[in-house]
Amino acid sequence: MLPGFCPERCLQFNKSKKFNMYQNAVMVPIGEWAKTRLKKLSDTDKMRDTSKVGSGFGKNVSNWLDRKMAYPTNVLHLATKTGNRQYSAVFPQTLPAWFIKFFTQEYDRVLDPFCGSGSTTCQVAQSLVRHSVGIEIKHEYDELANANLNNPVNYQLFEKYR
Ligand SMILES: C[S@@+](CC[C@H](N)C(=O)[O-])C[C@H]1O[C@@H](n2cnc3c(N)ncnc32)[C@H](O)[C@@H]1O
Repeated sequence: MLPGFCPERCLQFNKSKKFNMYQNAVMVPIGEWAKTRLKKLSDTDKMRDTSKVGSGFGKNVSNWLDRKMAYPTNVLHLATKTGNRQYSAVFPQTLPAWFIKFFTQEYDRVLDPFCGSGSTTCQVAQSLVRHSVGIEIKHEYDELANANLNNPVNYQLFEKYR
């Protein structure tokens, strides 16, 4: 395992089978592998090659010629750098940014039910022009959250701290 490499699983749940997904918003540069892999194509590479495991999937490698961008795999490689040092449990902003871009469009609503100081999901959602709502049980993060956010959000959903 590489030093500093820390794999974590992200689970995605949807309320219904039909949901919005915007793959084009999270496309990534195709990568160096394409230069060598696509240099000399075999006859199989030039036609649809159906998977031998019977999954029904197949690929035509020649479709990758001249492509600059590709859809990402389900393994994300993100730097673990976080933006807020005043609050200890923050995730890197690139993590919610990826999911927000993948599943929402501008002016959609993003909810973080455990938002901490709000410096991750809420802030990223706002910077991506989404409406953001955060819920946090610890009142001491309230001030921190409102100081962090460009436009303070309606932070307490159930009860205002006294
Ligand atoms: C991992 S931290 C949140 C990190 C945050 N989403 C971020 O990326 O910056 C989890 C937060 O959930 C809060 N929390 C725990 N139980 C909660 C509850 N029942 N309702 C609301 N917030 C809760 C904790 O106080 C803590 O600040």
